[in-house]
Amino acid sequence: MIKLAPSILAADFANLANEVKRVEEVGCDLLHIDVMDGHFVPNITLGPPIVQSLKEKTKMPFDVHLMIENPDQYIGDFVKAGADIISVHSEACRHLHRTIQHIKSYGIKAAVALNPATPLTDIEYVLEDLDMVLIMTVNPGFGGQSFIPGMLNKIKELRGMINKKKLDLDIQVDGGIKPDNVGLVTEAGANVLVAGSAVFNSVDMEATVKEIRRNAK
Ligand code: DX5
Ligand code: ZN
Repeated sequence: MIKLAPSILAADFANLANEVKRVEEVGCDLLHIDVMDGHFVPNITLGPPIVQSLKEKTKMPFDVHLMIENPDQYIGDFVKAGADIISVHSEACRHLHRTIQHIKSYGIKAAVALNPATPLTDIEYVLEDLDMVLIMTVNPGFGGQSFIPGMLNKIKELRGMINKKKLDLDIQVDGGIKPDNVGLVTEAGANVLVAGSAVFNSVDMEATVKEIRRNAK
């Protein structure tokens, strides 16, 4: 069974509460919240006050993707705001093991995100400590980019690493996920799908969500 995590980056920011309700009503599983700081990535999005204001509007767990420098400084604020899962980028963490323990000390789930060019060896020795690995299938910073096909092998290799270590870990994919590549990424081993533009910009959101679930392998 796959989990679908719509990214609110593609939502109408002037109507966020309604947008969140809309994705919840069509049966999405998690709310993916993209936090960008203008340093780690070129774009700036939102911070803890907006996350907190959305928390009372939905029962969906909050999957907070931190595309920021020095994430340790803000982890506590995002937990207070309602994060249920926090992803940090390995490229932004000088002491990744410590940062993962920091997230877990709040009793929430910890995940590490890898940019397309970052090797899986970055997380090899912390895999046991993680709940999820986020394989970026575009370079982070913007919604609406095209899926990078070379990431399929990376997903497969990661699923192999996880199976070899007999771990139970989610693999999330993020960037350019559409109904027509859901079959490929799930076959490769991904089970948590982030989709921004595919869900929010669709004419019939319910039909798109159904199509994504139908196409998953
Ligand atoms: C990219 C973000 C993604 C993005 C996905 O930096 O992490 O979550 O919003 O958007 P789509 O699905 O439109 O590629
Ligand atoms: Zn994201």
